[in-house]
Amino acid sequence: MNLIKKMLVAQAAVLALWAVSAQAATNDEIAERIKPVGEVCVQGQECKGVGAVAAATGGGAKSADDVIAAHCGACHTAGVLGAPKVGDGAAWKTRADAKGGVDGLLKSAIAGINAMPPKGTCATCSDDELKSAIKKMSGL
Ligand code: HEC
Repeated sequence: MNLIKKMLVAQAAVLALWAVSAQAATNDEIAERIKPVGEVCVQGQECKGVGAVAAATGGGAKSADDVIAAHCGACHTAGVLGAPKVGDGAAWKTRADAKGGVDGLLKSAIAGINAMPPKGTCATCSDDELKSAIKKMSGL
């Protein structure tokens, strides 16, 4: 085989590899784009968010950051539906003053308040976990 032929073969191989990897990236992107926004996990059953379910059923307490990232942040990061924003100390303080401090806020968070669902959608959160998430978001 002469040199030119060898070079052509090598180039074809590179091209083929490139095409395959480009395709793979595209498939990943598509999978990412069409993945469901949320998933419902039933306690005790296998589910994709195994980490979260395991943490909720067994393991130690969920950290405030985890609870906020998985639940509260959906509304409280941007202030969806009038939710007090994470880090907006003044908004949280006004509420806390009206409700008798963090414990008062905890009560309405557990029960739900207007557009906010009970426990802020974290059905598996303990009161302490909710409380530390409230403290973290409010800075109180
Ligand atoms: C679906 C959106 C949504 C999610 C998720 C959510 N909240 Fe809220 N939250 C709201 C809204 C809206 C308000 C303001 C309700 C009002 O006063 O009308 C609010 C208010 C609050 C208040 C103030 C209650 C009061 O008495 O003034 C606390 C505390 C709170 N949320 C905690 C949490 C915690 C902790 C989480 C996560 C575990 C969470 N929220 C998740 C929407 C949400």
